[in-house]
Amino acid sequence: MNNVVLKEGVNWVGAIDWNIRDFHGYNTNRGSTYNAYLIRDEKVALIDTVKKEFCNDLIAHVEELTSFDKIDYIIVNHVEMDHSSSLPIIAKLAKNAKILASVRAKDELIKHYGHDFDVVDPVKTGDTLKLGKRTLEFLEAPMLHWPDSMFTYDIEDKILLPNDAFGQHLASSGRFDDEVDECALMEEAAMYYANILMPLAPLITRKIQEVVALKLPIDIIAPSHGIIWRKDPMKIVNAYLKWSSGESKNKVVIVFDTMWHSTDTMARAIAEGVISQGVEAKLYKLRSYSVSETITEILEAKAVLVGSPTLNNGMFPTLGQFLTYATGLKPKGKLWGFFGSYGWGGGAVKGMMEMAKKAGFEVQEQGVEVKFVPDKDDLKKCFEFGQQIAQKIKA
Ligand code: FEO
Repeated sequence: MNNVVLKEGVNWVGAIDWNIRDFHGYNTNRGSTYNAYLIRDEKVALIDTVKKEFCNDLIAHVEELTSFDKIDYIIVNHVEMDHSSSLPIIAKLAKNAKILASVRAKDELIKHYGHDFDVVDPVKTGDTLKLGKRTLEFLEAPMLHWPDSMFTYDIEDKILLPNDAFGQHLASSGRFDDEVDECALMEEAAMYYANILMPLAPLITRKIQEVVALKLPIDIIAPSHGIIWRKDPMKIVNAYLKWSSGESKNKVVIVFDTMWHSTDTMARAIAEGVISQGVEAKLYKLRSYSVSETITEILEAKAVLVGSPTLNNGMFPTLGQFLTYATGLKPKGKLWGFFGSYGWGGGAVKGMMEMAKKAGFEVQEQGVEVKFVPDKDDLKKCFEFGQQIAQKIKA
């Protein structure tokens, strides 16, 4: 496996998780990887570890290259357990290694794994570590993805190791961007951004600007999940700049659920109204798509129309789950509209609208509600609602 060479002396030593389909609630249809890297110079450094279930993969990959007692440093770029839960085992094997992490990571490691981690040496932005002919530089990246997160930069090899940033949940036999299907790679990169990093958009923009200002030459971006960017590392940097700016296109995503097809029929009439204005429409029924797929579709849309039948005076539970998730992720610069059907007393549209307003979303004040089953006039209103939204986002 250790023909996975980034540059001479720098190897991927991580693990591939082919079968994971649920990553703390995020639907990982294509599996994932936990990437760790070994840099061998006069001194040897291991960058990150893997999820503990895959610790033996990491051990085997390292032992193909060196013995654990030759490791001088373990660098913890991020404490979340997908990268650190092997650390208690690895630290015992690499008994001569110093552990380096950010100040916040030190506290978090103690909280996760106990006082064995009192020995961690904290590093901060601008600190360097000489390995021999190579030097590593550290750059704190708080909230990308946790307060402890940091990037490590291998100056001589021009390799940026940014942990979660620029990653994707994608298991494959290829480890590099020139070895996998580019469409699948960018789809997974967008899904990862939308589901993990979207609420941190302002921090991402600032951090990328900071890195650009440092004028660090970058040949390779080696994240801790998925594919390593070597063919065109700026492709993912530019995609992040676009996503974090909230740049969107004339597209309306219609997210709904239905009990006896009334809301479904409304959704399709609304979509026809959108399409009649030359605007792209996408329909996502929440029991056909996961919430993580749905939120990814919204990433580049200018409007989101959400439909629910009324159940017990409120919204249908799948819409509650979706809106809880969506409001937490804070998608920027979108127009939100609401529609739905009811029997005797409504409540779904009002409840959804209140939730969106509380989250600070821009809301189309007038929604569409239909009693029981939509008739011809109701469907005309739905069509016009779609037209109106499409005209508004085109304006
Ligand atoms: Fe991949 Fe925030 O851990």
